[in-house]
Amino acid sequence: MKWGLCSFWDDQHSPFLDYPSVSSASHTLHRLAFLSPSSVGRSQMDCTSLVRVAASREKTKGRCASSEGHTWTKELHRILCMQGGEDDMSYAKNSEAPAAAITSSKPLLMESIRSMKLFVSEACIRIADLGCATGYNTLSTMELVVQNLRLRYEKECDHVPEFEAFFCDLPSNDFNSLFRSLQVDSSCSSSRKPYYPAGVPGSFYDRLFPKEKLHLVVSLNALHWLSKIPAVVLDKQSKAWNKGRAWIDGGRKDVVEAYAKQSEEDLKMFLRCRREEMMEGGMLFIVMAGRPQFQEPENQLGDPDSRAKHPFTNSMDQAWQDLLNEGLIDEDTRDMFNIPAYMRSVEEVKTAFDRCSGFKIQQLEFQKIIEHSKEKQQEWIRDPDSYGRAKTNLVRATLKPIVEAHVGDIAEELFERFQTRISKDIDMLHKTCFYGVVVVCAIRMPD
Ligand SMILES: C[S@@+](CC[C@H](N)C(=O)[O-])C[C@H]1O[C@@H](n2cnc3c(N)ncnc32)[C@H](O)[C@@H]1O
Repeated sequence: MKWGLCSFWDDQHSPFLDYPSVSSASHTLHRLAFLSPSSVGRSQMDCTSLVRVAASREKTKGRCASSEGHTWTKELHRILCMQGGEDDMSYAKNSEAPAAAITSSKPLLMESIRSMKLFVSEACIRIADLGCATGYNTLSTMELVVQNLRLRYEKECDHVPEFEAFFCDLPSNDFNSLFRSLQVDSSCSSSRKPYYPAGVPGSFYDRLFPKEKLHLVVSLNALHWLSKIPAVVLDKQSKAWNKGRAWIDGGRKDVVEAYAKQSEEDLKMFLRCRREEMMEGGMLFIVMAGRPQFQEPENQLGDPDSRAKHPFTNSMDQAWQDLLNEGLIDEDTRDMFNIPAYMRSVEEVKTAFDRCSGFKIQQLEFQKIIEHSKEKQQEWIRDPDSYGRAKTNLVRATLKPIVEAHVGDIAEELFERFQTRISKDIDMLHKTCFYGVVVVCAIRMPD
């Protein structure tokens, strides 16, 4: 965590200087009555909010996000990951939406496996999942792929090869949790093991394997994460400075263009690396958050409701603004936080494949995924607080590592503000929202 001694909460600016305790509400309010208009008036806070702010300030007293805290943006590959472990805030417990995308793309995956070339002379088939994270999604997909390939070998070939499964993610991923949940039965004789698992730490925008190592590569719900936040969106002098916003949906043209350019470079690198690593005839299957054909990049999320409800948009910006209004962060800290994700359109994906020789696209389509089941939605309508908690856990599971790298312990304050806002947005709760994925299956062709 990157904390500096407080430099902007100095005598002149800190309304909470030497604030002794928040144990007494009346004491708190008395002290708060003397807050400067700039720190309170802006946000029109009521008394409850004031007490809460005081408590937060007490918790975070003496600390603020130093400018050092913003250096994570240059080291994204060391920081980015989903929240590890298996508690309520972990990715493992908050990956229903990606699971829905995997379910929706499953028929295409099955069809691709059915039509894929079998490597008859190979003793071992090597499969990689790029951006595996932790939990059920990666393990169940690997099992499904291996089972179906094995069946094909059993039916169509004289011999059934062994399978090696590489779970790949950034080094910050919680590989320990992942491998703990593998539950490989140690009583199994080696010949009965479904596959031999291995972890591969590294960025999928770099080479991860030696040449021609892999027969099948899947990447699920991962490729919309960029390798970096484009430098210009963090540059105050640039037209692409993304002031006051955490992401690009509905953003200004220059900002969106900067993200789009980064996305293009990243996908090019991804394909070049896979071209090296994959055997001829091997299959690449990708599901990534994306946009339908002809949808402009500034409209990352489709319909306005989905946009308003998406955890990277309005409520996230408002939560940062709350922290700013409450004096918990400075403006720079808010402005320097950007989410490194970009939803590519079907055309953008196709163009990237066309430019990188060595692959033939077999399937390419956009799929619209319903955000949550009807039952879940009904449950949340009955209890909006539980909706707030669920959504906030989803955001924690996805963004906590980078928010913490940005503001240290204040991260929790951000999530609390987010939860409060989400729980109150009852209208949105009644709306069924969607998100999109682009699914592509390509075969590695001779150069
Ligand atoms: C939303 S999770 C998806 C996990 C899993 N595939 C699923 O469908 O549930 C995205 C994963 O991609 C990983 N990721 C993001 N950028 C990456 C990169 N450059 N190289 C490798 N993994 C990356 C993240 O660390 C994260 O674990």
